[in-house]
Amino acid sequence: MRLIVLTSILICIAANPITYDDVRGVPYKVSYDHRAITINDVRTMLISGAIHYPRSTPAMWPYIMQMAKNQGLNTIQTYVFWNLHQPRRGVWDFTGRANLSGFLQEAANAGLFVNLRIGPYISGEWTNGGIPVWLNQVPNISFRTDNAAWKTVMRQFILNIIDYISSYLAKNGGPIIIAQIENELMDGQDAYASWCGDLVSNELSFTEIPWIMCNGLSAKSTIETCNSCNCLDDGWIARHLQASPDKPMMFTENEGWFQIWGQPISLRRTSDLAYSVAEWYAAGGSYHAYYMWFGGNNYGRFAASGVSTLYADDVCLHADGTPNEPKFTQLSRLQHIVANYSKIMLSQDPVRTAIPYWDGYKWLNGTSQFVYSYSNSIYFIISQATTTLYVLFRNQTILMAQHSVRIYDGDMDLLWNSASYSDISSGNTQIIPVVTGPLNWQIWSESLIKPSPPLIISPNPLEQLNITNDETVYMWYRRNVTLKQPSSNSIVRVQTNVANALLFFMDGEYLGEFDDHTHSQGAAEGYVVLDLSRFHSNQQYLFEILSISFGLFSGVYPNTFQYKGIDGNIWLDDDLLVDNKTETNFWSHQKGLLGEYLGIYTENGSSKVNWDSQWTKGINKPITWFQARFDLNNLSQQDMNANPILLDAQGLNRGHVYINGNDIGLYWLIQGICENNQPCCCQHAQTNCLKPTQRFYHIPPDWLKRENNLITIFEDSGAPSPGSVGLVQRIVTNS
Ligand SMILES: *[C@@H]1O[C@H](CO)[C@@H](O)[C@H](O)[C@H]1NC(C)=O
Ligand SMILES: *[C@@H]1O[C@H](CO)[C@@H](O)[C@H](O)[C@H]1NC(C)=O
Ligand SMILES: *[C@@H]1O[C@H](CO)[C@@H](O)[C@H](O)[C@H]1NC(C)=O
Ligand SMILES: *[C@@H]1O[C@H](CO)[C@@H](O)[C@H](O)[C@H]1NC(C)=O
Ligand SMILES: *[C@@H]1O[C@H](CO)[C@@H](O)[C@H](O)[C@H]1NC(C)=O
Ligand SMILES: *[C@@H]1O[C@H](CO)[C@@H](O)[C@H](O)[C@H]1NC(C)=O
Ligand SMILES: *[C@@H]1O[C@H](CO)[C@@H](O)[C@H](O)[C@H]1NC(C)=O
Ligand SMILES: *[C@@H]1O[C@H](CO)[C@@H](O)[C@H](O)[C@H]1NC(C)=O
Ligand SMILES: *[C@@H]1O[C@H](CO)[C@@H](O)[C@H](O)[C@H]1NC(C)=O
Ligand SMILES: *[C@@H]1O[C@H](CO)[C@@H](O)[C@H](O)[C@H]1NC(C)=O
Repeated sequence: MRLIVLTSILICIAANPITYDDVRGVPYKVSYDHRAITINDVRTMLISGAIHYPRSTPAMWPYIMQMAKNQGLNTIQTYVFWNLHQPRRGVWDFTGRANLSGFLQEAANAGLFVNLRIGPYISGEWTNGGIPVWLNQVPNISFRTDNAAWKTVMRQFILNIIDYISSYLAKNGGPIIIAQIENELMDGQDAYASWCGDLVSNELSFTEIPWIMCNGLSAKSTIETCNSCNCLDDGWIARHLQASPDKPMMFTENEGWFQIWGQPISLRRTSDLAYSVAEWYAAGGSYHAYYMWFGGNNYGRFAASGVSTLYADDVCLHADGTPNEPKFTQLSRLQHIVANYSKIMLSQDPVRTAIPYWDGYKWLNGTSQFVYSYSNSIYFIISQATTTLYVLFRNQTILMAQHSVRIYDGDMDLLWNSASYSDISSGNTQIIPVVTGPLNWQIWSESLIKPSPPLIISPNPLEQLNITNDETVYMWYRRNVTLKQPSSNSIVRVQTNVANALLFFMDGEYLGEFDDHTHSQGAAEGYVVLDLSRFHSNQQYLFEILSISFGLFSGVYPNTFQYKGIDGNIWLDDDLLVDNKTETNFWSHQKGLLGEYLGIYTENGSSKVNWDSQWTKGINKPITWFQARFDLNNLSQQDMNANPILLDAQGLNRGHVYINGNDIGLYWLIQGICENNQPCCCQHAQTNCLKPTQRFYHIPPDWLKRENNLITIFEDSGAPSPGSVGLVQRIVTNS
């Protein structure tokens, strides 16, 4: 419990709470005391949420920022995505949805402060935790530890980013008030943690903002912050008051959750989220961020291993940008109350008092019912019990739902109850078809013409990332094989990795696949039975393997590297497929698909192959490209931010979809299997059992045109019903 000693510091109190609108454009000072971050020496309640710029597009940013502002946020937080900005050594990209300064400008325009979590390790279910794959090639490197090679590249990256965002720092009148170094640093890295601390407090002291380190080891010069489902109930606050009584309490990640291919959608109860946020502010927290506030989408190839294209859907704003009710409004109400009372709350430390509860026969004093009071102006009454019960406070008998917070003003008028929101309508949205199938498809088969991209030849199969640099998720392995005793149950055995698929073809014919889509990393051994009975012994055939990476795990640790494709040996019916003498038996490696190489999903590239208009030949046919055009004349609502356009992928199997040359990401109609045991973490339920993990795929408005849109699909496994593919619009009628 916090000591009931009021600080002797007299703090100047301004209108509640300060927002970026109050300071924009002029240099201002950011610091902190034990209670809060201070802006021009005024303690400031920071009501924050995570919004990641590459998980949306520039045309969406103003809408998202405005929704955040309306819902009651005054701060947003984002990671900085190194492998987005530096796809290759020495190459920087800040265009399109990598336009970090454009994003910061939109936050500023909406009057929002920014917490910039630079990392550079960021986890975030982002491929390789944001670390560029080309760093694997740096001699002697070991990630996220006291390693000279790592510290050199990390320091340089941080300096480059600080230089790039410099005009957005508070001291230059910009919205950035907090920055983060590292992320969830594991135990045993004390030397590296202090190096991080020294970097920000010495070399980067010119930034003049507080630096945080979250949920793990932290340096003395930084503020250690909480990532959790509930930082009061899990004991974090108690530990913080012991360990860092001079620093404010900051909750950087109140966890939503994300979806994994093959799993159903996990949900977190509105009441549980509301309870955790209210408890946090009640107990003296002065910065809170939803992780995510808006999850958005893993467009392109940036999802971490096994993670679906939509990201963190059950948070305040759905992945397609529509409000997630009743969560959006229930938490909005809380945030407006906290903002309104922030002046009083921040002028003191909270006082916690236990209150009696009724056990059915008598009043008892326990430890799970208590009130946080602020100058008799606002009371947060809390019950941590798992059952509904009565509590007694100021002569009132109050019925408390399990795990709930009620907020009363000084006159004991109820302002808010975390467990009560039945007045908020939860489902005012409709899905309206805007382009119905079948589209005028034409098809082209990936492997039908002689490969023309540069090939890398080697006696043995080579690891995939070393060749692709993860610039594509695909790699073709090809080799001539002479079959000894082909049978209906020939076995291919291959040393590969988790979150990887390998599709096997003999003489152009698809025979089967290895497929693992776990959200993890590490080696895997594939055994796949291939029916080779149609092939003849002692005859030479072309054996082809398409390797598909389902992303790199977002956990990156010292002394480990992630690999994809074939990173060991491969045997066909016990024959090791390595022949280092006969060159015609060498392996050839092709980086990416031929269709990618030719850019056939773009206007310019489309004509480089001969499309076949008899698209029904592409039904159930693996490695088939589909292309069609569509108009958007039938929109009933023109605002495609508030009423998003989605691809209805029902009828497809697995692959990539492109709209006007933009990579929407991986689609996969894999069913979600519900588990009997409790879902992970703060999730309470799984929905959509035995339905696709993700059926609808968000298309950003700036990637669409009124007419003549080009849609291109690479279907790797074979689409059962491509004629069903269409576009829909989600119409939000009222929120
Ligand atoms: C980033 O966005 C800003 C503001 O919208 C724009 O002025 C700038 O040109 C963009 N930068 C790049 C590299 O596209
Ligand atoms: C890598 O480590 C080896 C062994 O410690 C050392 O000889 C070599 O100089 C190092 N290379 C670089 C580039 O630091
Ligand atoms: C805001 O707080 C003041 C007390 O500081 C209170 O009188 C007023 O009713 C509150 N308004 C809302 C909307 O909660
Ligand atoms: C509960 O605590 C109050 C003081 O806060 C005290 O008056 C009362 O006797 C206690 N009740 C029990 C059952 O211990
Ligand atoms: C509670 O009730 C008692 C007896 O009616 C009264 O003396 C006391 O002032 C009341 N306390 C509060 C906080 O209203
Ligand atoms: C869209 O409009 C066109 C012409 O107005 C019509 O032929 C078509 O059926 C409409 N599509 C949908 C999905 O309503
Ligand atoms: C990557 O390939 C190069 C040769 O192309 C090789 O020297 C190097 O060892 C490979 N690195 C890894 C990590 O496999
Ligand atoms: C070639 O293969 C033979 C037999 O597998 C092996 O003994 C030899 O070391 C290999 N040579 C090279 C250069 O890899
Ligand atoms: C397979 O062998 C043929 C000759 O039989 C050769 O032309 C071809 O290049 C070989 N394929 C590969 C991938 O090496
Ligand atoms: C497409 O081709 C035209 C004409 O050759 C060229 O001007 C344009 O830059 C190309 N666009 C892209 C995106 O490559």
